[in-house]
Amino acid sequence: MSTTTQDEGSRRDFLYVATGAVGAVTVGAAVWPLIDQMNPSASVLALATIDIDLTQLEQGQQITVKWRGKPVFVRYRTPAEIEAARNTPLSALPDRNARTGNNPSADASDENRALGENGEYVVMMGVCTHLGCVPLGEQGDFGGWFCPCHGSHYDTSGRIRKGPAPENLPIPELAFDGSTVTLLEQYKA
Ligand code: FES
Repeated sequence: MSTTTQDEGSRRDFLYVATGAVGAVTVGAAVWPLIDQMNPSASVLALATIDIDLTQLEQGQQITVKWRGKPVFVRYRTPAEIEAARNTPLSALPDRNARTGNNPSADASDENRALGENGEYVVMMGVCTHLGCVPLGEQGDFGGWFCPCHGSHYDTSGRIRKGPAPENLPIPELAFDGSTVTLLEQYKA
């Protein structure tokens, strides 16, 4: 386990968890800095599901899980982050589709993107919908994610708010039992 000076003194706490083709993620297995220049390999096409135990996350913590060669952001949001997302009207959103594999026709209300009794968890692909860079967490004008490649700002629900990205960060089809989220293999990059 290692940390970087970049992360020290910050409430950011990125975990980057690499997995095999099939596996369950144990938070805390590895701590790496988020790699913004990560270049997912298109050749990684393993059909796999993955289980992520959300109970090991602390409030305000984000992990990035590598799944099928691409990063997946998993965040246990703070009450302020949830409130910010829920107080945003649909009219303020450039993309009003939730972009969820489970319900492709749902609108982009935070309730349609978040998991948990109070919407405390968000799980989404960590791939900018502009040209595929990996956005940085807890940055940007809306406290969510910021893509430094061309300046796209996502909010705490992972919805695009400003910049060239056309769509919200997509949420793969998943199952959630209240403590574990299972990413299913139907996600198409
Ligand atoms: S790839 Fe993210 S803004 Fe262009």
